[in-house]
Amino acid sequence: QALTTIDARSPVPKYFQLREILLDLIENELTVDAPVPSERELAARYGLSRMTARQAVEHLVSEGRLYRVQGKGTFVARPKIDMPLRLTSFTEDMRARGLTPGSRDLGRHEIEATAALARELSVEIGSPVYVIERLRTADGVPMALERSHIPAHLAPDLLTESLVERSLYDLLASYGLVLDRGEQVIEAGIADTNDAGLLGLAPGSAVLLLQRHCWAGQVAVEYAVSTYRADRYQLRASLDIAS
Ligand code: GLP
Repeated sequence: QALTTIDARSPVPKYFQLREILLDLIENELTVDAPVPSERELAARYGLSRMTARQAVEHLVSEGRLYRVQGKGTFVARPKIDMPLRLTSFTEDMRARGLTPGSRDLGRHEIEATAALARELSVEIGSPVYVIERLRTADGVPMALERSHIPAHLAPDLLTESLVERSLYDLLASYGLVLDRGEQVIEAGIADTNDAGLLGLAPGSAVLLLQRHCWAGQVAVEYAVSTYRADRYQLRASLDIAS
């Protein structure tokens, strides 16, 4: 049952009780972009100090459940996309959520593998590698920047294909490259001015930096470096017991 009042004798901190009340309000009563009561109103309504009310609101702002607009108030944020960590494509992930995936082409070229890239893709230094840079969108809204590196000999005509409405992984499958294993590293990061501009974020906003390697059998097919909006994504992994 949802909390509706603050229990002063509970060992649960008051700000945390208020956080639960607000979460219930956000999830069940308010719509995205609706205002939440001010800290003063919350303090009065629940018999709390302004400081406790502020602590609860600040917690929800830092969790990305609420956002503040200077001089206007605090509002309900759009729920983040809950992304399971699996070897799926952006296209599949968005479709599974009823969103329309899209891409903006930010550049496609062939380069010679640097030492670092050669190591990531298990190819010789100097061998041709395709680089595909895309701004990924969901229902037209920027979600992520992705830079994929693919050994050119694996998919010779790849750069002649348009990827604006096409899935890279589908295209790779048409070359017989069926990805069956991946590895991903995820780090916290800060958007620089350029990335922030493309993603529609304020410079300095938090982002998730992803590096993905994937293989088809023994063959390393993609090394991707991506920047995802931290205000739009939360990542979910199911945890196995270490063996
Ligand atoms: C994910 C991965 C990328 C990969 C992309 C393929 O977003 N992080 O490494 O390139 O999927 O997506 P699609 O097949 O939709 O082009």
